[in-house]
Amino acid sequence: MARLLVLLFLGSAAALRASDLSPYFGTKSRYEAIHPHLLADPYSLGPSEPGFPLPAASCVPIQARALIRHGTRFPTRKQIEKLGGLHEALVRRSSSSPPCRPAERLAGWAMWLRPEMDGRLAARGRRDMSALARRLAARLPTLFAARNSLAFASSSKPRCLDSAAAFREGLRQVHGHGSLKETFEVNDKLMRFFDHCEKFVKGVEDNSTALRELDAFKDGPEMKTLVDKIARTLCLPVSELNADLIQVAFFTCSFGLTIKNTNSPWCSLFNTDDAKVLEYLNDLKQYWKRAYGHEINSRSSCNLFQDIFKHLDQAVLESKSSTPISSPVMLQFGHAETLLPLLALMGFFRDTEPLKADNFAKQESRQFRSGRIVPYASNLLFLLYHCEKASSPEEKYKVQILLNERLLTFPHSGAKVASYSDLRNHYKHLLDNCHFNKVCAMTKPG
Ligand SMILES: *[C@@H]1O[C@H](CO)[C@@H](O)[C@H](O)[C@H]1NC(C)=O
Repeated sequence: MARLLVLLFLGSAAALRASDLSPYFGTKSRYEAIHPHLLADPYSLGPSEPGFPLPAASCVPIQARALIRHGTRFPTRKQIEKLGGLHEALVRRSSSSPPCRPAERLAGWAMWLRPEMDGRLAARGRRDMSALARRLAARLPTLFAARNSLAFASSSKPRCLDSAAAFREGLRQVHGHGSLKETFEVNDKLMRFFDHCEKFVKGVEDNSTALRELDAFKDGPEMKTLVDKIARTLCLPVSELNADLIQVAFFTCSFGLTIKNTNSPWCSLFNTDDAKVLEYLNDLKQYWKRAYGHEINSRSSCNLFQDIFKHLDQAVLESKSSTPISSPVMLQFGHAETLLPLLALMGFFRDTEPLKADNFAKQESRQFRSGRIVPYASNLLFLLYHCEKASSPEEKYKVQILLNERLLTFPHSGAKVASYSDLRNHYKHLLDNCHFNKVCAMTKPG
Protein backbone atom coordinates (compact mmCIF):
# COMPACT_ATOMS: atom_id res chain seq x y z
CA MET A 1 0.00 0.00 0.00
CA ALA A 2 2.74 2.45 0.98
CA ARG A 3 4.61 1.62 -2.21
CA LEU A 4 1.49 2.22 -4.29
CA LEU A 5 0.97 5.63 -2.67
CA VAL A 6 4.55 6.62 -3.39
CA LEU A 7 4.20 5.58 -7.01
CA LEU A 8 0.99 7.57 -7.36
CA PHE A 9 2.65 10.56 -5.73
CA LEU A 10 5.55 10.42 -8.16
CA GLY A 11 3.08 10.19 -10.97
CA SER A 12 5.16 7.66 -12.83
CA ALA A 13 5.43 3.93 -12.36
CA ALA A 14 8.96 4.04 -13.77
CA ALA A 15 10.31 6.48 -11.18
CA LEU A 16 13.01 5.05 -8.97
CA ARG A 17 12.84 5.04 -5.23
CA ALA A 18 15.65 6.41 -3.08
CA SER A 19 16.44 2.87 -1.95
CA ASP A 20 17.18 1.82 -5.55
CA LEU A 21 19.84 4.51 -5.69
CA SER A 22 21.19 3.99 -2.18
CA PRO A 23 23.91 1.47 -3.18
CA TYR A 24 25.61 4.41 -4.92
CA PHE A 25 25.51 7.05 -2.17
CA GLY A 26 29.22 6.60 -1.37
CA THR A 27 30.26 8.34 1.85
CA LYS A 28 26.64 9.49 2.26
CA SER A 29 25.40 5.91 2.57
CA ARG A 30 23.40 4.69 5.48
CA TYR A 31 24.82 1.69 7.31
CA GLU A 32 21.73 -0.34 6.43
CA ALA A 33 22.72 -0.24 2.75
CA ILE A 34 25.35 -2.88 3.52
CA HIS A 35 23.31 -4.59 6.27
CA PRO A 36 19.67 -4.60 5.11
CA HIS A 37 18.61 -6.85 8.01
CA LEU A 38 19.07 -3.83 10.30
CA LEU A 39 16.11 -2.10 8.63
CA ALA A 40 13.81 -4.59 10.31
CA ASP A 41 15.71 -4.80 13.60
CA PRO A 42 18.63 -2.46 14.40
CA TYR A 43 19.81 -4.76 17.20
CA SER A 44 19.89 -7.92 15.12
CA LEU A 45 23.32 -9.45 14.59
CA GLY A 46 22.17 -10.73 11.21
CA PRO A 47 23.51 -13.83 9.49
CA SER A 48 26.40 -15.31 11.43
CA GLU A 49 29.87 -14.51 10.20
CA PRO A 50 31.80 -17.73 9.42
CA GLY A 51 35.02 -17.80 11.43
CA PHE A 52 33.96 -15.13 13.90
CA PRO A 53 34.51 -15.14 16.75
CA LEU A 54 37.25 -17.73 17.15
CA PRO A 55 35.94 -20.72 19.14
CA ALA A 56 35.67 -19.74 22.81
CA ALA A 57 37.04 -23.11 23.91
CA SER A 58 40.44 -22.30 22.42
CA CYS A 59 40.71 -18.50 22.10
CA VAL A 60 39.53 -15.68 24.36
CA PRO A 61 39.30 -12.07 23.13
CA ILE A 62 41.46 -9.88 25.36
CA GLN A 63 41.43 -6.53 23.59
CA ALA A 64 39.09 -4.72 21.22
CA ARG A 65 39.75 -1.40 19.62
CA ALA A 66 37.01 0.11 17.52
CA LEU A 67 37.54 3.10 15.24
CA ILE A 68 34.10 4.40 14.52
CA ARG A 69 32.86 6.93 12.00
CA HIS A 70 30.16 9.21 13.42
CA GLY A 71 26.55 8.28 12.67
CA THR A 72 24.22 9.80 10.09
CA ARG A 73 24.74 13.54 9.89
CA PHE A 74 23.24 16.60 8.25
CA PRO A 75 24.98 18.08 5.20
CA THR A 76 27.59 20.74 5.78
CA ARG A 77 26.75 24.43 5.58
CA LYS A 78 28.49 24.65 2.20
CA GLN A 79 26.36 21.87 0.73
CA ILE A 80 23.17 23.34 2.16
CA GLU A 81 23.98 26.73 0.68
CA LYS A 82 24.67 25.21 -2.74
CA LEU A 83 21.36 23.39 -2.59
CA GLY A 84 19.65 26.62 -1.56
CA GLY A 85 21.07 28.26 -4.69
CA LEU A 86 19.86 25.48 -6.97
CA HIS A 87 16.43 25.49 -5.34
CA GLU A 88 16.16 29.26 -5.82
CA ALA A 89 17.06 28.92 -9.50
CA LEU A 90 14.15 26.50 -9.87
CA VAL A 91 11.78 28.81 -8.01
CA ARG A 92 12.82 31.76 -10.21
CA ARG A 93 12.38 29.66 -13.32
CA SER A 94 8.87 28.47 -12.46
CA SER A 95 7.50 31.97 -11.84
CA SER A 96 8.65 33.33 -15.18
CA SER A 97 8.93 30.53 -17.70
CA PRO A 98 6.80 28.08 -19.66
CA PRO A 99 5.45 25.05 -17.77
CA CYS A 100 7.99 22.39 -16.82
CA ARG A 101 6.61 19.74 -14.48
CA PRO A 102 9.81 18.35 -12.91
CA ALA A 103 11.20 21.85 -12.24
CA GLU A 104 7.92 23.01 -10.69
CA ARG A 105 7.74 19.97 -8.50
CA LEU A 106 11.22 20.62 -7.10
CA ALA A 107 10.52 24.36 -6.83
CA GLY A 108 7.55 23.42 -4.64
CA TRP A 109 9.69 21.14 -2.47
CA ALA A 110 10.00 22.46 1.06
CA MET A 111 13.64 23.24 1.79
CA TRP A 112 14.06 21.69 5.24
CA LEU A 113 17.83 21.93 5.51
CA ARG A 114 19.13 25.01 7.32
CA PRO A 115 22.74 26.23 7.22
CA GLU A 116 23.10 25.93 11.00
CA MET A 117 22.58 22.16 10.78
CA ASP A 118 26.15 22.27 9.46
CA GLY A 119 27.34 18.67 9.55
CA ARG A 120 25.79 17.88 12.93
CA LEU A 121 24.72 14.45 14.04
CA ALA A 122 21.08 13.72 13.16
CA ALA A 123 18.66 11.91 15.48
CA ARG A 124 19.10 8.96 13.15
CA GLY A 125 22.85 9.15 13.79
CA ARG A 126 22.32 8.86 17.53
CA ARG A 127 20.31 5.74 16.90
CA ASP A 128 23.03 4.39 14.58
CA MET A 129 25.46 4.70 17.47
CA SER A 130 23.35 3.29 20.29
CA ALA A 131 22.35 0.32 18.12
CA LEU A 132 25.99 -0.28 17.09
CA ALA A 133 26.99 -0.19 20.77
CA ARG A 134 24.44 -2.84 21.61
CA ARG A 135 25.48 -5.07 18.72
CA LEU A 136 29.19 -4.82 19.53
CA ALA A 137 28.49 -5.57 23.19
CA ALA A 138 26.43 -8.60 22.12
CA ARG A 139 29.19 -9.79 19.79
CA LEU A 140 31.89 -9.44 22.46
CA PRO A 141 30.10 -10.11 25.74
CA THR A 142 33.21 -10.90 27.77
CA LEU A 143 35.03 -7.71 26.76
CA PHE A 144 32.00 -5.50 27.30
CA ALA A 145 31.23 -7.18 30.62
CA ALA A 146 30.03 -4.65 33.15
CA ARG A 147 33.21 -4.45 35.18
CA ASN A 148 35.66 -3.96 32.32
CA SER A 149 36.92 -0.44 31.76
CA LEU A 150 36.15 1.35 28.54
CA ALA A 151 38.46 4.00 27.11
CA PHE A 152 36.60 6.48 24.92
CA ALA A 153 38.31 8.94 22.60
CA SER A 154 36.82 11.31 20.09
CA SER A 155 37.57 13.91 17.47
CA SER A 156 36.62 17.38 18.68
CA LYS A 157 33.84 17.75 16.08
CA PRO A 158 30.37 17.92 17.65
CA ARG A 159 29.09 15.04 15.46
CA CYS A 160 31.82 12.80 16.87
CA LEU A 161 31.39 13.90 20.50
CA ASP A 162 27.65 13.33 20.14
CA SER A 163 28.29 9.94 18.56
CA ALA A 164 30.45 8.90 21.51
CA ALA A 165 27.71 10.02 23.92
CA ALA A 166 25.03 8.10 22.01
CA PHE A 167 27.21 4.99 21.88
CA ARG A 168 27.72 5.16 25.63
CA GLU A 169 23.98 5.61 26.08
CA GLY A 170 23.43 2.43 24.04
CA LEU A 171 25.74 0.51 26.37
CA ARG A 172 23.85 1.82 29.38
CA GLN A 173 20.64 0.44 27.93
CA VAL A 174 22.28 -2.98 28.29
CA HIS A 175 24.35 -2.58 31.44
CA GLY A 176 22.35 -0.02 33.39
CA HIS A 177 23.67 3.25 34.72
CA GLY A 178 26.70 3.48 36.92
CA SER A 179 28.02 0.00 36.18
CA LEU A 180 30.55 1.01 33.52
CA LYS A 181 34.05 2.21 34.26
CA GLU A 182 34.99 4.73 31.61
CA THR A 183 37.57 7.27 30.63
CA PHE A 184 37.05 9.88 27.95
CA GLU A 185 39.40 12.12 26.02
CA VAL A 186 39.22 14.41 23.01
CA ASN A 187 42.13 13.47 20.79
CA ASP A 188 42.43 15.19 17.42
CA LYS A 189 46.04 14.07 17.03
CA LEU A 190 44.76 10.53 16.66
CA MET A 191 41.30 11.03 15.18
CA ARG A 192 42.01 14.04 12.92
CA PHE A 193 45.68 13.34 12.18
CA PHE A 194 45.18 14.74 8.67
CA ASP A 195 44.80 18.28 10.03
CA HIS A 196 48.15 17.99 11.77
CA CYS A 197 50.14 16.63 8.84
CA GLU A 198 51.67 19.63 7.07
CA LYS A 199 52.77 17.66 4.03
CA PHE A 200 49.22 16.41 3.53
CA VAL A 201 47.62 19.82 4.06
CA LYS A 202 49.98 21.63 1.69
CA GLY A 203 50.56 18.81 -0.77
CA VAL A 204 46.99 17.54 -1.15
CA GLU A 205 44.30 19.39 0.75
CA ASP A 206 45.33 22.91 -0.31
CA ASN A 207 46.89 21.86 -3.61
CA SER A 208 44.68 22.56 -6.61
CA THR A 209 46.50 20.07 -8.83
CA ALA A 210 46.42 17.12 -6.42
CA LEU A 211 42.80 16.33 -7.34
CA ARG A 212 43.15 16.83 -11.08
CA GLU A 213 41.62 13.40 -11.88
CA LEU A 214 38.53 14.50 -10.00
CA ASP A 215 38.39 17.80 -11.87
CA ALA A 216 38.91 16.03 -15.18
CA PHE A 217 36.04 13.67 -14.44
CA LYS A 218 33.79 16.63 -13.59
CA ASP A 219 34.51 17.98 -17.08
CA GLY A 220 34.52 14.57 -18.75
CA PRO A 221 31.98 12.91 -21.07
CA GLU A 222 30.04 10.96 -18.38
CA MET A 223 29.38 14.04 -16.27
CA LYS A 224 28.69 16.20 -19.31
CA THR A 225 25.98 13.77 -20.49
CA LEU A 226 24.46 13.83 -17.02
CA VAL A 227 24.54 17.63 -16.69
CA ASP A 228 22.89 17.93 -20.13
CA LYS A 229 20.20 15.44 -19.17
CA ILE A 230 19.36 17.15 -15.86
CA ALA A 231 19.35 20.57 -17.56
CA ARG A 232 16.81 19.25 -20.09
CA THR A 233 14.69 17.67 -17.37
CA LEU A 234 14.63 20.85 -15.31
CA CYS A 235 14.29 23.16 -18.34
CA LEU A 236 17.33 25.13 -17.19
CA PRO A 237 20.16 26.40 -19.38
CA VAL A 238 23.21 24.11 -19.10
CA SER A 239 25.18 27.19 -18.00
CA GLU A 240 23.18 27.27 -14.73
CA LEU A 241 24.26 23.74 -13.81
CA ASN A 242 27.58 22.01 -13.21
CA ALA A 243 28.93 18.76 -11.77
CA ASP A 244 28.92 20.13 -8.21
CA LEU A 245 25.27 21.16 -8.35
CA ILE A 246 24.24 17.79 -9.80
CA GLN A 247 26.13 16.14 -6.96
CA VAL A 248 24.34 18.33 -4.42
CA ALA A 249 20.98 17.31 -5.92
CA PHE A 250 22.02 13.66 -5.60
CA PHE A 251 23.16 14.22 -2.00
CA THR A 252 19.75 15.76 -1.26
CA CYS A 253 18.19 12.51 -2.43
CA SER A 254 20.55 10.60 -0.11
CA PHE A 255 19.95 12.88 2.87
CA GLY A 256 16.19 12.42 2.49
CA LEU A 257 16.63 8.69 2.83
CA THR A 258 19.34 8.56 5.50
CA ILE A 259 18.12 11.36 7.78
CA LYS A 260 14.35 11.20 7.36
CA ASN A 261 13.82 7.79 5.77
CA THR A 262 11.78 9.42 3.02
CA ASN A 263 11.82 9.20 -0.74
CA SER A 264 12.93 12.71 -1.70
CA PRO A 265 11.60 14.06 -5.03
CA TRP A 266 15.21 14.91 -5.90
CA CYS A 267 15.79 11.17 -6.36
CA SER A 268 13.51 11.03 -9.39
CA LEU A 269 16.05 13.08 -11.38
CA PHE A 270 18.37 10.07 -11.48
CA ASN A 271 18.45 6.52 -12.75
CA THR A 272 20.92 3.87 -11.61
CA ASP A 273 23.36 4.62 -14.45
CA ASP A 274 23.44 8.26 -13.37
CA ALA A 275 23.92 7.12 -9.78
CA LYS A 276 26.95 5.02 -10.78
CA VAL A 277 28.57 8.08 -12.35
CA LEU A 278 27.95 10.13 -9.21
CA GLU A 279 29.22 7.33 -7.01
CA TYR A 280 32.43 7.30 -9.04
CA LEU A 281 32.74 11.07 -8.64
CA ASN A 282 32.56 10.62 -4.86
CA ASP A 283 34.98 7.67 -4.90
CA LEU A 284 37.50 9.56 -7.04
CA LYS A 285 37.62 12.27 -4.40
CA GLN A 286 38.13 9.79 -1.57
CA TYR A 287 40.75 7.91 -3.57
CA TRP A 288 42.88 10.95 -4.37
CA LYS A 289 42.32 12.86 -1.15
CA ARG A 290 42.18 10.09 1.45
CA ALA A 291 43.56 6.86 0.07
CA TYR A 292 45.90 5.42 -2.55
CA GLY A 293 45.97 8.48 -4.84
CA HIS A 294 48.89 10.08 -2.99
CA GLU A 295 51.23 8.28 -0.63
CA ILE A 296 51.04 11.00 2.02
CA ASN A 297 47.28 10.40 2.41
CA SER A 298 47.77 7.01 4.01
CA ARG A 299 51.10 7.78 5.64
CA SER A 300 49.56 10.64 7.57
CA SER A 301 47.81 7.93 9.62
CA CYS A 302 51.10 6.47 10.88
CA ASN A 303 50.58 7.78 14.38
CA LEU A 304 47.22 6.08 14.68
CA PHE A 305 48.61 2.89 13.15
CA GLN A 306 51.51 2.81 15.59
CA ASP A 307 49.24 3.60 18.50
CA ILE A 308 47.12 0.57 17.60
CA PHE A 309 50.14 -1.72 17.65
CA LYS A 310 51.50 -0.13 20.81
CA HIS A 311 48.34 -1.11 22.64
CA LEU A 312 48.31 -4.58 21.07
CA ASP A 313 51.94 -5.07 22.17
CA GLN A 314 51.08 -3.95 25.65
CA ALA A 315 48.09 -6.29 25.90
CA VAL A 316 50.25 -9.23 24.77
CA LEU A 317 52.89 -8.37 27.40
CA GLU A 318 50.28 -8.03 30.11
CA SER A 319 48.65 -11.28 29.11
CA LYS A 320 52.00 -13.10 29.12
CA SER A 321 52.74 -11.86 32.62
CA SER A 322 49.18 -12.64 33.77
CA THR A 323 48.46 -9.04 34.74
CA PRO A 324 45.07 -7.49 33.94
CA ILE A 325 44.83 -5.91 30.48
CA SER A 326 45.00 -2.16 31.03
CA SER A 327 43.04 -1.23 27.87
CA PRO A 328 40.64 -4.07 27.13
CA VAL A 329 38.16 -1.92 25.18
CA MET A 330 38.98 1.26 23.25
CA LEU A 331 36.20 3.12 21.47
CA GLN A 332 37.38 5.92 19.23
CA PHE A 333 35.11 8.24 17.29
CA GLY A 334 36.25 9.95 14.12
CA HIS A 335 35.53 10.38 10.46
CA ALA A 336 35.55 8.60 7.12
CA GLU A 337 38.80 10.54 6.73
CA THR A 338 40.17 8.74 9.78
CA LEU A 339 39.36 5.24 8.52
CA LEU A 340 40.21 5.49 4.80
CA PRO A 341 43.89 6.45 5.15
CA LEU A 342 44.46 3.76 7.75
CA LEU A 343 42.82 1.09 5.57
CA ALA A 344 44.99 2.24 2.66
CA LEU A 345 48.12 2.20 4.83
CA MET A 346 47.35 -1.43 5.68
CA GLY A 347 46.70 -2.34 2.04
CA PHE A 348 42.95 -2.99 2.09
CA PHE A 349 40.70 -2.32 -0.94
CA ARG A 350 43.60 -1.70 -3.25
CA ASP A 351 42.78 -1.98 -6.96
CA THR A 352 45.47 -2.93 -9.43
CA GLU A 353 44.77 0.19 -11.45
CA PRO A 354 44.23 3.63 -9.96
CA LEU A 355 40.83 5.29 -10.23
CA LYS A 356 41.13 7.92 -12.93
CA ALA A 357 39.01 10.35 -14.86
CA ASP A 358 39.16 8.22 -18.00
CA ASN A 359 38.61 4.69 -16.65
CA PHE A 360 35.11 4.86 -15.18
CA ALA A 361 33.84 1.91 -17.25
CA LYS A 362 36.92 -0.19 -16.51
CA GLN A 363 36.51 0.40 -12.77
CA GLU A 364 32.95 -0.91 -12.68
CA SER A 365 33.87 -3.81 -10.37
CA ARG A 366 36.53 -1.97 -8.36
CA GLN A 367 37.19 -2.79 -4.71
CA PHE A 368 37.41 0.85 -3.72
CA ARG A 369 33.75 1.74 -3.21
CA SER A 370 33.39 4.20 -0.38
CA GLY A 371 29.74 3.29 0.27
CA ARG A 372 30.80 -0.25 1.20
CA ILE A 373 33.84 0.85 3.18
CA VAL A 374 32.84 4.01 5.06
CA PRO A 375 29.06 4.51 5.26
CA TYR A 376 27.82 6.45 8.30
CA ALA A 377 28.58 4.56 11.52
CA SER A 378 31.24 2.49 9.75
CA ASN A 379 33.53 0.80 12.20
CA LEU A 380 36.93 -0.85 12.08
CA LEU A 381 37.50 -3.30 14.87
CA PHE A 382 40.89 -4.73 15.88
CA LEU A 383 40.40 -7.80 17.98
CA LEU A 384 43.21 -9.55 19.87
CA TYR A 385 42.73 -13.08 21.15
CA HIS A 386 44.69 -15.15 23.60
CA CYS A 387 44.77 -18.81 22.55
CA GLU A 388 46.17 -20.67 25.55
CA LYS A 389 46.40 -24.15 24.05
CA ALA A 390 48.07 -23.11 20.80
CA SER A 391 50.68 -25.49 19.39
CA SER A 392 53.48 -22.90 19.23
CA PRO A 393 54.22 -19.66 21.12
CA GLU A 394 53.73 -17.67 17.88
CA GLU A 395 50.16 -18.91 17.63
CA LYS A 396 49.18 -17.89 21.15
CA TYR A 397 48.05 -14.44 20.12
CA LYS A 398 45.77 -13.96 17.17
CA VAL A 399 44.17 -10.96 15.51
CA GLN A 400 41.00 -10.50 13.53
CA ILE A 401 40.00 -7.23 11.90
CA LEU A 402 36.37 -6.49 11.21
CA LEU A 403 35.10 -3.70 9.04
CA ASN A 404 31.43 -2.92 9.53
CA GLU A 405 31.00 -6.12 11.56
CA ARG A 406 32.42 -8.37 8.85
CA LEU A 407 35.85 -10.00 8.85
CA LEU A 408 38.43 -8.46 6.57
CA THR A 409 40.75 -10.68 4.59
CA PHE A 410 44.38 -9.88 5.39
CA PRO A 411 46.12 -8.77 2.19
CA HIS A 412 49.35 -10.54 3.17
CA SER A 413 47.85 -14.00 3.66
CA GLY A 414 44.36 -14.13 2.21
CA ALA A 415 43.15 -15.42 5.60
CA LYS A 416 40.65 -13.89 8.01
CA VAL A 417 42.74 -14.48 11.09
CA ALA A 418 46.44 -13.82 11.62
CA SER A 419 48.87 -14.71 14.33
CA TYR A 420 49.92 -11.52 16.01
CA SER A 421 53.60 -12.15 15.32
CA ASP A 422 52.95 -12.66 11.58
CA LEU A 423 50.88 -9.52 11.42
CA ARG A 424 53.47 -7.49 13.25
CA ASN A 425 56.13 -8.88 11.01
CA HIS A 426 54.18 -8.04 7.89
CA TYR A 427 53.85 -4.41 8.97
CA LYS A 428 57.38 -4.18 10.37
CA HIS A 429 58.44 -1.62 7.75
CA LEU A 430 55.65 0.71 8.87
CA LEU A 431 56.21 0.12 12.56
CA ASP A 432 59.93 0.85 12.17
CA ASN A 433 59.94 3.58 9.54
CA CYS A 434 56.64 5.40 9.43
CA HIS A 435 57.11 8.26 11.84
CA PHE A 436 54.53 11.01 11.73
CA ASN A 437 56.95 13.88 12.31
CA LYS A 438 59.29 12.73 9.59
CA VAL A 439 56.59 11.69 7.13
CA CYS A 440 54.59 14.88 7.53
CA ALA A 441 57.49 17.36 7.43
CA MET A 442 57.49 19.49 4.28
CA THR A 443 61.15 19.00 3.47
CA LYS A 444 62.81 15.64 3.46
CA PRO A 445 65.76 15.57 5.84
CA GLY A 446 69.00 15.81 3.80
C1 LIG B 1 50.62 19.45 -5.75
O1 LIG B 1 50.23 18.26 -6.41
C2 LIG B 1 50.99 17.90 -7.54
C3 LIG B 1 50.34 16.70 -8.17
O2 LIG B 1 50.21 15.65 -7.28
C4 LIG B 1 52.43 17.67 -7.13
O3 LIG B 1 53.22 17.34 -8.25
C5 LIG B 1 52.98 18.89 -6.42
O4 LIG B 1 54.26 18.62 -5.92
C6 LIG B 1 52.07 19.30 -5.27
N1 LIG B 1 52.48 20.55 -4.67
C7 LIG B 1 52.96 20.63 -3.41
C8 LIG B 1 53.22 22.01 -2.89
O5 LIG B 1 53.14 19.66 -2.71
